[in-house]
Amino acid sequence: MSDGMSSNEHHRSWAEPFRIKVVEAITMTTREHREVAMAEAAWNTFLLRAEDVYIDLLTDSGTSAMSDRQWAALMVGDEAYAGSRSFYHLEDAVRDVYGYPELVPTHQGRGAEHILSQILIKPGDVIPGNMYFTTTRFHQEHAGGTFVDVIIDEAHDPASLHPFKGNVDLAKLQAVIDEHGPERIPYISVETNVNLAGGQPLSLENLRATYALCERHGILVMLDATRALENAWFIQQREPGYSDHSVKEILLEICANSDGATVSSKKDNLVNIGGFLALRDPELARKARGLLVAFEGLHTYGGMSGRDMEALAEGIREMVETDDHVRARIGQVEYLGNKLISAGVPVVVPIGGHGVFLDARSILSHVPQERFPAQALAAAIYVDSGVRTMERGIVSAGRDTRTGENHYPKLELVRLAIPRRVYTQAHMDVVAESVVEVHSQRESIGGLQFTYEPEELRFFLARFAPVAVA
Ligand code: F0G
Repeated sequence: MSDGMSSNEHHRSWAEPFRIKVVEAITMTTREHREVAMAEAAWNTFLLRAEDVYIDLLTDSGTSAMSDRQWAALMVGDEAYAGSRSFYHLEDAVRDVYGYPELVPTHQGRGAEHILSQILIKPGDVIPGNMYFTTTRFHQEHAGGTFVDVIIDEAHDPASLHPFKGNVDLAKLQAVIDEHGPERIPYISVETNVNLAGGQPLSLENLRATYALCERHGILVMLDATRALENAWFIQQREPGYSDHSVKEILLEICANSDGATVSSKKDNLVNIGGFLALRDPELARKARGLLVAFEGLHTYGGMSGRDMEALAEGIREMVETDDHVRARIGQVEYLGNKLISAGVPVVVPIGGHGVFLDARSILSHVPQERFPAQALAAAIYVDSGVRTMERGIVSAGRDTRTGENHYPKLELVRLAIPRRVYTQAHMDVVAESVVEVHSQRESIGGLQFTYEPEELRFFLARFAPVAVA
């Protein structure tokens, strides 16, 4: 077995490497209540009040449960405006765990994306990436750049069992370089455990080859290392040669094959708010700090309070202290995914790191993509059980900034994102039962149309109404 256990031991269950010290009550609601709530929220789960939600799988972002040690860290946070001790603790943690010498703290991931895009992208530039992420692409375009997808084709196929669906297609990358020239490509944005592909990892072999190709052309490699820990787990499980390496070692090796990273600390890092840009080049870091003081805050806090930085430093160390944390985290996601697979519900395979993604295109094959099948499916699941999920399809993909045409992503998904250390296996059972029930009644679910379509990042605040499907 790849983890070195004997086959007998291997069939034993894992369990969470923690026990529960504080609990928080959640609301149980009736179907009638949820029907009204969903209509008032205009069929957009982002517009629901959290109090009307039973099990909240909207996102794994900022929804983690902190440990007793993190709560204790809050108390010793240093709130000095300049030179906070907590900043230096955070800087040490980022150096030890990610290996980057230069830390630029921000209020969350998109703050880091904003600064990185502004210091590196000039109007007319092209930024290749292994599938887009909403806020990342927004900031690239906002800086005058154009995003080009260079992920392997398998990533766009929910049924492909490729073990590293997050891989960069090196031929596609070379073609972008040949077409535009390296001088128009400031960097490639490489996302670890690609969110919109379904939480799918890239391999170290692929990242190394990408880094080598970019180095030859003088193109920087900037990671979106938001879920790099989860990617490290999949490398340990699936990539030849890494089964006896700790996730801590693998994470360092991932970062060693890059020039810097943006991180939303609301995911892997186990805090409710925070993020950072980390770099190798001191000159680039100097430019970043110049913008940081205008847009986020002084260079020793960015957008975070001292206590936020202290809890974040602790979260970063805790996530790699042993492999048990990430084993249980991804184990829980796989538990839910395997239940749905057994019940015949079409989901993205292999099951990803941070959530289970329903294939709404296949489930609601009678609803055309212009009628937002994933948006409608997410609403139907909420009405069934109070489980809140999120659309990751055509609504999230938005419009082409130049032509105004909708992007038509191949993946039309509903994401069940699992917060870290928050829900139990029994919650996962309840979620699975609801999804199976909604799946069995899929014929009765119709489409939606916009009643309000925001110009930027439309999925957050859009409003919808039911519409007859011809
Ligand atoms: N990069 C990735 C891969 C993300 O998933 C996110 C956020 C960000 C950057 C932006 O970070 O929210 O801290 O500003 N993803 C959340 C989600 C919103 O639900 O997937 P942020």
